[in-house]
Amino acid sequence: MTLIPIAQYHPVVFHKIPPLNFVNKMTSNPVSQAIRKGIFTKTIGNRFLYYQEVGSTMDDTRRLAEEGAEEGLVVMAEHQTSGRGRFGRNWVSGSGNIHLSVLFRPTLEVLRELTMISAVSVVRAIRKTTALDPRIKWPNDVLIGGKKVSGVLVETAASGTEISYAVVGIGINIGLDTTSHPEISDIAGCLEDLASAPVARDEVLRQLLIELDTLYAQAREGGSAREEWQSLLDTIGQRVMVSWRDETWEGVAVGVDSSGNLMLRVDNGELLTMTAGDVSLSGQTS
Ligand code: BTN
Repeated sequence: MTLIPIAQYHPVVFHKIPPLNFVNKMTSNPVSQAIRKGIFTKTIGNRFLYYQEVGSTMDDTRRLAEEGAEEGLVVMAEHQTSGRGRFGRNWVSGSGNIHLSVLFRPTLEVLRELTMISAVSVVRAIRKTTALDPRIKWPNDVLIGGKKVSGVLVETAASGTEISYAVVGIGINIGLDTTSHPEISDIAGCLEDLASAPVARDEVLRQLLIELDTLYAQAREGGSAREEWQSLLDTIGQRVMVSWRDETWEGVAVGVDSSGNLMLRVDNGELLTMTAGDVSLSGQTS
């Protein structure tokens, strides 16, 4: 068995981010008030900031983390001018969808759970608020009928082996008109189109925060979302291509190991352990 030495969690290199004037940019926070009704979480959402427009909620959350914000902080924006996804991609951020980042201060063990916790929370939230049946594409894309409706981005800051904090960014397409975005129209979908019905964003949001809170509390007590995450993975058993930087491997995704790494049986029979990467079905782009 060959271990591909690619780390799933990288310390973030901090670039200078221009200061944001929260007082000017923050609205009267209608979403915050709406979701606070009926949300009883221990940690997630203990502080909830809602903006009309930011560059990326990841940057605002990182800045607040550097300033000492407590874990559980949620930064949500109606619109992002520089929303980002995995592998430096752009994240299309139209009004009416969910774009938020959550600050965690986890141990290394719990950090390993965050990817799984986040994807499972999105799936649970969609299931509880719609009639849809989402699945996960390894490691944390949420798809319905093969269309990506949600993505998760985990960025961490560490000093040595100590995790200072992790920011989990979650985007969920509620009513995004993907046809007006040719770059994603083949691969992305939105809940309202897939459900052929209106979807209440506040309900999805509230449920998402509740599920994150529940699963995070369990992880801190030594529990794991791995079994549920694994049962939702539709990548397993499929012939896939996995790309990482300039390299691509093709083979059959035979399973995941105890850390959630993808086991890929390549054509020469070798079993590779992929700790990170971009998966697409062979013959398709992701
Ligand atoms: C992916 O590539 O699938 C991850 C997408 C993550 C998008 C979310 S939207 C809220 C947060 N802010 C960002 O700039 N990105 C994440």
